[in-house]
Amino acid sequence: MVAEVPPIRFPVAPGCATVGAIVTAIPGVTPLVAAKGQQVLPSITAQPWGTAYDTPVDLYTLTNANGMMVTITNYGGIIQSIWVPDSFGRLANVVLGFPDLQGYLDHGGAYFGAIIGRYANRIANGAFTLDDVTYHLPINDGPNSLHGGIRGFDKHIWAATEIRDGAVVGLQLSRVSPDGEEGYPGTLAVTVTYTLAADNALTIHYLATTDAPTVINLTNHSYFNLAGEDATTVYDQLLQLNANHVTPIDQHANPTGAIAPVADTPLDFTSPTPLGKNINAGDPQILAGLGIDHNFVLNRPSPDDRSLILAAIAHDPASGRTLWCYTTEPGVQLYLSNFLTGSFTGTSGHAYRQGAAFTLETQHYPDSPNHPNFPSTVLRPGQTYDSTTIFKFTS
Ligand code: GLA
Repeated sequence: MVAEVPPIRFPVAPGCATVGAIVTAIPGVTPLVAAKGQQVLPSITAQPWGTAYDTPVDLYTLTNANGMMVTITNYGGIIQSIWVPDSFGRLANVVLGFPDLQGYLDHGGAYFGAIIGRYANRIANGAFTLDDVTYHLPINDGPNSLHGGIRGFDKHIWAATEIRDGAVVGLQLSRVSPDGEEGYPGTLAVTVTYTLAADNALTIHYLATTDAPTVINLTNHSYFNLAGEDATTVYDQLLQLNANHVTPIDQHANPTGAIAPVADTPLDFTSPTPLGKNINAGDPQILAGLGIDHNFVLNRPSPDDRSLILAAIAHDPASGRTLWCYTTEPGVQLYLSNFLTGSFTGTSGHAYRQGAAFTLETQHYPDSPNHPNFPSTVLRPGQTYDSTTIFKFTS
């Protein structure tokens, strides 16, 4: 039983108050040494970034007082770059992406940096039943519906509002997903707010309401390489997950429904472990995932606990950069870019291949609508979907 597993006592990022592993507050303190030795004024600027679906798209640049910079486009709510300092204050872009909008239009199947919805991850056979009605979704991943279908939230243009609030800058993105979009019931009003604070924390806050019963599972699909987007692999980078269990997958990468301990398996990241350590293991789960592509069950005091907890710490020994991931979600998908084959080039012009990056897709478990033993992803009229994930960088 997951509920009986005590949370791991993780170290805590500077500026984060905790009770054990449970984060109770993330005060916006502890500014890092400014890049190039200077404090700069927090800012957000916008620039035209091309046209998608006959609609103009913008790219927003958020900068905090340390010079940490995040670029986000309102096409798919995609995080296009995240520039963070290493231990010498040198900035590098630590997420995969493309230099221009066309890259995202041409290679949408990678989901680089995007908001994923309505349902992140897989729904087996593209079908689920809610209140005795069976809904059919577009099939786009073997027999499954993946990441919201053919034209998910990652391929829509969102309405954008700039946020300036003292040391915090942000971008609020919203859209209304019509009833029946990609097969999902209910008109869904969604707001995703990105904020960049003085402590080098990028917060993603998701809110949604519906006018009819539906299912929802939102995430952000950033691919991180803490050595920089132009580095070849992440295999030497260390990851620690606050997860003693995983949802094992079948041959179609869908959960079997089991919640299995990671102890003594290649999916044990309960202590800092090189990401590449077990990718060639002859383990059935690694073979089924073509490497690591698994949903980890975050340690929580009870299955329905939704407090903000530290989910993961990733560290690059070479650059000294550390990523701290906090979330209110019950799970996180760790994916090591298994499907990147070098067939296209990214932001700085080099081909991305397997192991080029890792994702930490905070989420409810895959295929939850078909697994009553998993935490529910049902949203009903009158309820508010409210989810927060924080990616905080230190060096
Ligand atoms: C998730 C899935 C992977 C893959 C990527 C997108 O991480 O779990 O199997 O589909 O998205 O390429």
